[in-house]
Amino acid sequence: MTSHTEYGEKTNASEVVEAFSGQIKGKTILITGIGPAGIGGEAATAIASQGPALLILASRTLSKIEAVAEVIKTSYPTVATRALVVDFASIKSVREAAAKVTAYPEPTIDIFIHNAGLMDLRQEHRMSVDGIDEHLAVNFVGGFLFTNLILNKIVEAGRIKGEARIVIVASSASPISPIRFHDLNVEKAATDVPEEERPNLTILEQLRIPTDTKYIPFVAYGQSKTASILFAVLLGELLKGKGVTVNTLHPGAIRTELQRTTTDKDLGASATMMYWKTLSQGASTTLVAAFDPALKDKSGVYLEDCQVKQAMPFATDLTIAKKLWKVGEELVGQRFDI
Ligand SMILES: NC(=O)c1ccc[n+]([C@@H]2O[C@H](COP(=O)([O-])OP(=O)(O)OC[C@H]3O[C@@H](n4cnc5c(N)ncnc54)[C@H](OP(=O)(O)O)[C@@H]3O)[C@@H](O)[C@H]2O)c1
Repeated sequence: MTSHTEYGEKTNASEVVEAFSGQIKGKTILITGIGPAGIGGEAATAIASQGPALLILASRTLSKIEAVAEVIKTSYPTVATRALVVDFASIKSVREAAAKVTAYPEPTIDIFIHNAGLMDLRQEHRMSVDGIDEHLAVNFVGGFLFTNLILNKIVEAGRIKGEARIVIVASSASPISPIRFHDLNVEKAATDVPEEERPNLTILEQLRIPTDTKYIPFVAYGQSKTASILFAVLLGELLKGKGVTVNTLHPGAIRTELQRTTTDKDLGASATMMYWKTLSQGASTTLVAAFDPALKDKSGVYLEDCQVKQAMPFATDLTIAKKLWKVGEELVGQRFDI
């Protein structure tokens, strides 16, 4: 249960940060996926209004980070910001960025919000530089590696202050696909993978999204978001007793650059069926996950519209999560024993 059961899809970011101001003041907060037109930039600006000690703004495009930092500097000149460039589609880039974070003078990171994400609905299937399906690479593998590499600073915050949080922005697209352990790169037709790994094509058909191709972009996106929830669930378990919680959420449907490769036609009936949140409303669920005191000591929580909801069983099963963790380790070529 959250502190504000009255919050919902129309709750604005400003309302949330004002309510949880005491949780923000003086904190060191790292947010990924920063741009002026996205949820990350909106969340960062809302957080800045409540006086954090330092906002580390991470993303792959420096000019977009700088645009958000400029807004913060103009409105909240006493808030310190720092830019961190990282491409989550590249294992090398993630390692370089994580090394920078490790070398920062601040010994702790209180809140890590992993918001960066990609949805590429073009029919041409793209792989990362490391040969991984681009959705899985950006939405899971890059974050898996980055989080593990910077974890010491978050655990240190948990140890010294008794509380640190990791928040991973997932999506309501998770129910579309479980993890395809036999076809991680989403190259086989739906019927060519074991039954328990097949996508839920009914959801897509109901939304009138074409399912007659071997590569269905929504399946790749769905799998990658399922992976991000599974990662959070297991990481939360592994960090129990260390003062660090790990939770996930769906921010809602918000018109951002997430739809940059997409038209409303690609989104099928969902484009007209959904309530499109404003950017501010789209940032609030992330902010509840990051700051609501009622979630202190709680891991494995999944939120939608600022309230606790249930994610799919295939996205919360610890056995599947452990199997995926091993896949993550193999893909990045490093073991992480917590
Ligand atoms: N908007 C929605 O309706 C919706 C619904 C469900 C879930 N979400 C999730 O919410 C999060 C934020 O999305 P958004 O709507 O704000 O979309 P957005 O405007 O496209 O923001 C995504 C952010 O992630 C960054 N990013 C993308 N690929 C990256 C990479 N390889 N390395 C580093 N950064 C990368 C983008 O940087 P560039 O701009 O420089 O590419 C951008 O800053 C995502 O995780 C998304 O999946 C959004």
